[in-house]
Amino acid sequence: VKEKRIALLPGDGIGPEVVAEGVKVLKAIEQKDKNLSFTFEQFPWGCEYYLQNGKMMDDDGLSQLQHFDAIYLGAVGYPGVPDHVSLRDLLLKIRKGFDQYVNLRPVKLLNERLSPLKGKAAKDIDLLVVRENSEGEYSGEGNWLYKGEPEEVVLQTGVFSRKGTERIIRYAFEEARRQGKSLTSVSKANALNYSMVFWDSVFEEVKRDYPDVETASYLVDAASMFLVMNPERFDIVVTSNLFGDILTDLGAAIAGGLGLATGANVNPERTYPSMFEPVHGSAPDIAGKGIANPLAAIWSVAQMMDHFGEEEWGRKIVSTIQQIMDEDEKLTPDFGGEATTAEVGDRFIKLLTS
Ligand code: NAD
Ligand code: IPM
Ligand code: MN
Repeated sequence: VKEKRIALLPGDGIGPEVVAEGVKVLKAIEQKDKNLSFTFEQFPWGCEYYLQNGKMMDDDGLSQLQHFDAIYLGAVGYPGVPDHVSLRDLLLKIRKGFDQYVNLRPVKLLNERLSPLKGKAAKDIDLLVVRENSEGEYSGEGNWLYKGEPEEVVLQTGVFSRKGTERIIRYAFEEARRQGKSLTSVSKANALNYSMVFWDSVFEEVKRDYPDVETASYLVDAASMFLVMNPERFDIVVTSNLFGDILTDLGAAIAGGLGLATGANVNPERTYPSMFEPVHGSAPDIAGKGIANPLAAIWSVAQMMDHFGEEEWGRKIVSTIQQIMDEDEKLTPDFGGEATTAEVGDRFIKLLTS
C-alpha cells in the first residue's frame, strides 16, 4: 500500500470551501483504491492566523511541512491583511523555500460551451504553461528610497539566474519532447534589456540540445493577443514568473474561467514536497456563500495524483470534470448553474466512483 501524507493549507476566503471538496475526493479515491492510503494534517495558517498571532505561519513552518508527500493549498490573502504580507510570507515563501521552481498550469477547454472565444473547439485550446516559479520578477528584491519625498524612487529587481533560467527552460523542453509537442518561449526582450535578453539567449542555447522539438518565441504582448485570437498556436509554453501569472489567468478565461484552472508547484528533484492549488484566489466577493466552484481545486487533486505516479486517477478525475460539465444546472453560478460548492463535490464523487 502506497501511503501518502498530505498537508492541508485551506487558507483564506473560499480556500477552505474548495479544499473541503478536494479532500472528499481524496477520501473517495482511498476508499476505492486499496493500494492507496492518505493521511491528512491541517494547518491553520492564513490571514486569520496572522490577525491573531502576528504571523502568517509558524516560524518553523517550512520544517513542519518538509516531510509531507504533498501540500494541498486553497488560497491565501484576504482584506484586512496587506496582500504583499500575506502572500510573501506564506504562499511565495513555500514556493521559494521548497524550490518549487516549476509551475505547471494546464489550459484546456474541457467543454466547448464554456469558451468565450467564438469558433474555437476543444482541440484549439489545449496547452500547458510551464511558469518559472522561484525567482524572476518575484525575487522580492528592491529598494524604496526617499519615502514620501519628491525624490522618491522605488526599485523592484527582477532576478534571473543562469541556474534558475536554464532549469525551467530545460524542464519545458523535456516536457515538450516527452509529449511530442512544440515549445513556445514567451519573453519581452525589446523592452527588458537585461532579464529578457538573457532569457532569450538561454532559450536559444538550450534549444540546441533539442533539435527534435519545434519551437517558437513570442513577445508577451503578442502572445496575449495570440492566446485569444489563435490559441491553437500553443502547445507547451515556457515563461517567467510574472508573465506566467498573467498569461494563466488569461488562459483560465479562455478555458472557462478561474473556477476551473489548476496549478502544480513542483520541485522536480523531490528534495521537498510539491504543492497543489487552484489558480484562483480567495474570492472575497463570494466567500462564505457556499457557491465557489470546487472544480479547480478538484483538478489540483488530479495533478497531485500524477505527481504520486497515479496517472490513471489523474486522467479519471479530469474526465469526470468533463462529464460533470455537461450537466448545466448541476454547476456553480460562475458556470451558469445553481448548485452549491458541496453539491458539485458530491455529484463529482458520485460520478467518479460509479
Ligand atoms: P480571485 O481569483 O480571488 O477572484 C477573481 C474573481 O474570480 C472574483 O470575482 C471571484 O469571485 C472569481 N472566482 C475566483 N475563484 C472562483 C471560484 N472557485 N468559483 C467561482 N468564482 C471564482 O482574485 P482577486 O480577487 O484578485 O484576489 C483575492 C485575494 O486572493 C487577494 O488577496 C489575492 O492576493 C489572493 N490571491 C491568492 C492566490 C493564491 O493563494 N494562490 C491566487 C490569486 C489571488
Ligand atoms: C497565483 C497568484 C499568486 C502569484 C499571488 C497570489 C502571489 O496570483 O498563484 O497565480 O502571483 O503567483
Ligand atoms: Mn495569479
